[in-house]
Amino acid sequence: CSVGLTGTKYGCGGGGCGACTVMVSRYDPIQETVLHWSVTACLQPICSLHGAAVVTVEGIGSTKTKLHPVQERIAKAHGSQCGFCTPGMVMSMYTLLRNNPQIMNSNTENKNLNILMDNVLPLDPTQDLIFPPELLVSKPSERLCFQGEKVRWISPADLKDLIKLKAEYSNAPLLVGNTTIGPKMNLKGTVHPLVLYGGSIPELRTIKWRNNGVTVGAGCSLSVLKDVLLQGIEELGPEKSRVYQALVQTLQCLASKQIRNMATIGGNILSANPKYDLSSILAAAECTLHIVSNGNSLLIPSILFLTTNSLLQYKYNMNFSFHSEKLIANPCALQWEFVSAFRQAQRREFSFSIVNSGMRVTFRHDSNVVENLDIFYGGVGPTLVKARHTCKELMGRYSHLEKLLVVGTQLLEEEIYVPPTAPGGQEEYRKALVLSFFFKFYMQVGMNDLPLEYLSALKPFKNEVPQANHSFQTQSSNDPVGRPNVHQAALQQATGEAVYYDDIPSVKGELFVSMVTSTRAHAKIISIDASMALAMSGVVTFISAKDVPGQNRRLWFNNPEELFAEEEVICVGQIIGAIVAETREQAKRASEQVDITYEDIQPVFFTIEEAIEHQSFFDPKRKLERGNLEEGFEKADHILEGELYMGGQEHFYMETQGLIAIPKGEAGELELYVASQHAAYTQEVVGITLGIDSNKITCHVKRLGGGFGGKVMKIASLSAIAATAAYKTGRAVRCVLEREDDMLITSGRSPFLGKYKVGYLNDGTILAADITYYSNGGCTLDESSFIMEKALLHMDNGYKIPNLRGHGLVCKTYLPSYTAFRGFGGPQGLTIIESVLHEVAARCGLPVRDINMYKDEKCYTHHKQLFSPHDMVRCWNECLEKSDYTHRCLSIKQFNAHNHWKKRGISIVPLKFGIGFSKAALVNIYKDGSVLISHGGTEMGQGINTKAIQVRPAQETCPIIYTNVFFMTEIILFCMKDGCEKLMRRLEPLIKKHPQFTWQQLVSKSDMQVVEAYCQKISLSATGFFMGPHTSVDWEKSDGNAYYYFTFGACCSEVEIDCLTGDHKNIRTDIVMDVGRSINPALDVGQVEGGFVQGIGLYTIEELQFSPEGVLLTRGPSRYKIPALCDIPPQLNVHLLRNADNPHAIYSSKGIGEPPVFFGCTLFFAIKEAIAAARRERGLSESFPFSSPATAEKIRMACEDCFTRMNPPDRKVKTKPWAINV
Ligand SMILES: Cc1cc2nc3c(=O)[nH]c(=O)nc-3n(C[C@H](O)[C@H](O)[C@H](O)COP(=O)(O)OP(=O)(O)OC[C@H]3O[C@@H](n4cnc5c(N)ncnc54)[C@H](O)[C@@H]3O)c2cc1C
Ligand code: FES
Repeated sequence: CSVGLTGTKYGCGGGGCGACTVMVSRYDPIQETVLHWSVTACLQPICSLHGAAVVTVEGIGSTKTKLHPVQERIAKAHGSQCGFCTPGMVMSMYTLLRNNPQIMNSNTENKNLNILMDNVLPLDPTQDLIFPPELLVSKPSERLCFQGEKVRWISPADLKDLIKLKAEYSNAPLLVGNTTIGPKMNLKGTVHPLVLYGGSIPELRTIKWRNNGVTVGAGCSLSVLKDVLLQGIEELGPEKSRVYQALVQTLQCLASKQIRNMATIGGNILSANPKYDLSSILAAAECTLHIVSNGNSLLIPSILFLTTNSLLQYKYNMNFSFHSEKLIANPCALQWEFVSAFRQAQRREFSFSIVNSGMRVTFRHDSNVVENLDIFYGGVGPTLVKARHTCKELMGRYSHLEKLLVVGTQLLEEEIYVPPTAPGGQEEYRKALVLSFFFKFYMQVGMNDLPLEYLSALKPFKNEVPQANHSFQTQSSNDPVGRPNVHQAALQQATGEAVYYDDIPSVKGELFVSMVTSTRAHAKIISIDASMALAMSGVVTFISAKDVPGQNRRLWFNNPEELFAEEEVICVGQIIGAIVAETREQAKRASEQVDITYEDIQPVFFTIEEAIEHQSFFDPKRKLERGNLEEGFEKADHILEGELYMGGQEHFYMETQGLIAIPKGEAGELELYVASQHAAYTQEVVGITLGIDSNKITCHVKRLGGGFGGKVMKIASLSAIAATAAYKTGRAVRCVLEREDDMLITSGRSPFLGKYKVGYLNDGTILAADITYYSNGGCTLDESSFIMEKALLHMDNGYKIPNLRGHGLVCKTYLPSYTAFRGFGGPQGLTIIESVLHEVAARCGLPVRDINMYKDEKCYTHHKQLFSPHDMVRCWNECLEKSDYTHRCLSIKQFNAHNHWKKRGISIVPLKFGIGFSKAALVNIYKDGSVLISHGGTEMGQGINTKAIQVRPAQETCPIIYTNVFFMTEIILFCMKDGCEKLMRRLEPLIKKHPQFTWQQLVSKSDMQVVEAYCQKISLSATGFFMGPHTSVDWEKSDGNAYYYFTFGACCSEVEIDCLTGDHKNIRTDIVMDVGRSINPALDVGQVEGGFVQGIGLYTIEELQFSPEGVLLTRGPSRYKIPALCDIPPQLNVHLLRNADNPHAIYSSKGIGEPPVFFGCTLFFAIKEAIAAARRERGLSESFPFSSPATAEKIRMACEDCFTRMNPPDRKVKTKPWAINV
């Protein structure tokens, strides 16, 4: 911190985001070499680094000296958008390269790194920092002790020493990789006064191959274990290495590379966490554990023993090394012995399993009679569970495999009970997985006798390196507009030099503020007692509503929201007060000690359905209507009614919300360094809170580490609270929300429920649709009414439905208030109408989208806005062609006919997305010729400044710097152009007079011979403003121009599902996007890809879970999964529509940041198609309820079969669910 190395970022504190990745190198005396590991810095205790060298992003290259090839390539290949996670990615790639320098020149391995580019630096190993020679030691280690304020750390000299220490301090944990202990210490405040460190003990890291197996030290990292097992597999061949293969398969998707580099096998087993994957397979493989304690050495024959409750006795009393005598069985028996591991998680990789399993069976020689059977499950109870009874019953009894399957399934169904209250819920799904895994194992064992259409069920989905095909039209080579220029700050982002608000060094006397939030959903505040917290070390003060000098509320279009709850709380997570302390840690710990007494108030409810029952809605209630619904329904051949629920979404920007408030000490002036997408609003709210004029508050927003709409509103409240703290203490105050608090307090995209009635003809023409949209707004209105309006305004998407009506109601519930999110209601409005089209198409088997599309040259939307769908139809047709849609539909049919347990689906949708904002920019030319543009946009990865440089009117190179305030790239460019043109007009007489002068000569004072604008008293400052044409909607008349123009597009996606587990793989996506004449196609393609990937999350994996008490359960990356590399379709093709114009925008470009999120719905509908294919084959109704996101659980349960039906509804115990759909 004091050195000022801020390149390494902090995004979660739990090893889940990778933003803090650094490289740790150590000398290994056994291998006599230096080993390099990528690790997450947030889980690396500083004391564990004794003897290690740490390289951060600053250590590998810089813009001031020389870039490292990795930094240069990620920047120049447009691999960095907001840049907050770029240093972490750079360090991950750098470590990979440091360990495998040959891959830079290879075409075969790791294509990610081997980006083939012209004009880039070659790899120069002399540029790498050398490993410090003083650390190249192989002398016997000695015991090391470190004493901190709260923790004593002992690193024993060797195993003997560790055993001695363990006997002495039996309660001290043995910390090795710190990946289980660390998150608890970082995020839950667990303190261990004494820690024994086992990471430096060589005996715990040894691996020995023996004739009958391999002995692995408990301190071996999972990465090392995987590499060793891979070697073993190669040497032993496929039959003899079945156990190793099963283990490697599990290890491959367990956590991230960084975590696997730290996490140890011993820690994984000894943590006894049923979600952890290794115990079940190690138990099935009959691994033996060797436990050593003071004077004792114990061989434990089964891991099951350790992972049950008796484990606790050992956990803190013994050290152990792990070995398995049974990892390879007797070669003669091998033919009859089968071992497999299974796991299913919310996301295929880097996600804790929902259920995992290890199974082993031995058959009697040359028969189908089971001699030995072991089945273990993790994730179905508090400990690892062995299906004892089932195994016993099946052994020696049946000679027919099919009989074995039927009886086995029945027995398992009876034996494995998942209580409805089990942590994580999903009891029916878990039960289905228990049986499905058993069925998969049965198929693996009896593979030779399986019907051909069953075989694909055995192939796990494999990750492939995504391949992209981009096409776009560039402008002439000497015109910067239209060129795929690199993001203006990409190099700074790749080197860690780019500054985010929390990188700003602390100001003298700076304090830290941490929020105290409500734990009740609806309650009266009886008392607040901060005395315990105030007595804690470093705590300066506690602030609450009483301390607000101005108004304790934030207003948004006359809708108030309290900054601090004063008398009553209306959601869990509402801010009641805040602790101000000397350090982050002190503030955080003290805020947990503020005691609040509540008196619960009724009613309290959280879901849309409950809000409808209570008729709890915010005003205004909106309606849009065209045509005559009744007539339309009357003429229709068919009427269909249905509904679609779409869950919410967390912004999950990598940089959490925060700011620094610095009182200037003069006339109440205050400076804010804030991560805000709307600095003007932040400034206004802070002014009202402090009771001072806005002109005394200066907001600085250099860049954001992602925003996605989440840093528009809530950040204003946080700023006002930090400013109140600064006002009260007279000192600078920093606020950085922890990931968990950020997710709890700031909320995200609102869930929607669309209930519809649609009337259509036999030929697929839709005559009438009546849709009621309900959104969950949470406890205050925030932006929800505008979000609902946007949903209604998009309810026609690209379809000319003559009679169309939409009602929009924002539900008021006792949840944290939902807010703006990329797309702003557009995706929800569009998805619900697409669902209507999808259902109609499913019933009439016709190309319903095509049939109903707007096609006339001049069309009117349902709010009577004139537009031409010409480019939308072009996008649609091009997408059909580029994706080879018709041909692939046939291939999918064939695939589905030949595969019973895997099914594919494909979906294509058009898009019409309204764009409209107004803003301003200030352009200043300085005397040295440099230009500063302060604009109303914020740089949060979309490349607003890069585009601005490209459209500057001066053709000569004038150095431009940007400061930002608010959002919307295209509009900002208009403003900027306007300001620049004003200045150029003022300079025109000079330009004409001195046509030969350079830019500097025109404006600079340095050259005394020239006529300089400055001396001529020409004002070199101008404001650009863009209001655009008037846009408004008369909601009474359903009439108005809501947008300046529409961005069009079309997207086609194909997926494959595993009907037995609910897993799915995105196979291919083709997007054709009309961005007008793109100012920067590389940035636009990046926006399309980024938006689409965020849509993947929205529609398939990101699921927010609330407890029945309204507590957000999914806080942080360990519980809430955003898309990872495994979710990107291996083929993701983006084409920008050629020869597209937009007369309404600058250089004919179009707004592109928001629309592509909606394209994620193609995956949702493709999954639905695939499920329908499975159901069709099983003779089930093709109409089935299915809501977004299409999680593994929902996919599995919709693919009904004998395994899901074994737990019929009448046998289900009614208890309080673990989580509710809000
Ligand atoms: C982001 C993230 C994702 C993860 N994903 C997965 C996943 O998908 N699947 C999965 O299975 N796991 C996952 N894990 C868990 C990870 O595998 C375990 O945390 C790890 O294996 C524990 O090893 P460690 O050395 O870090 O243990 P530590 O955190 O150092 O210790 C854990 C516990 O084990 C005890 N212990 C450790 N070694 C010994 C020993 N030799 N003798 C006695 N006691 C010992 C410690 O005293 C402590 O109680 C994930 C972890 C993280 C942080
Ligand atoms: S992984 Fe370390 S901050 Fe997220």
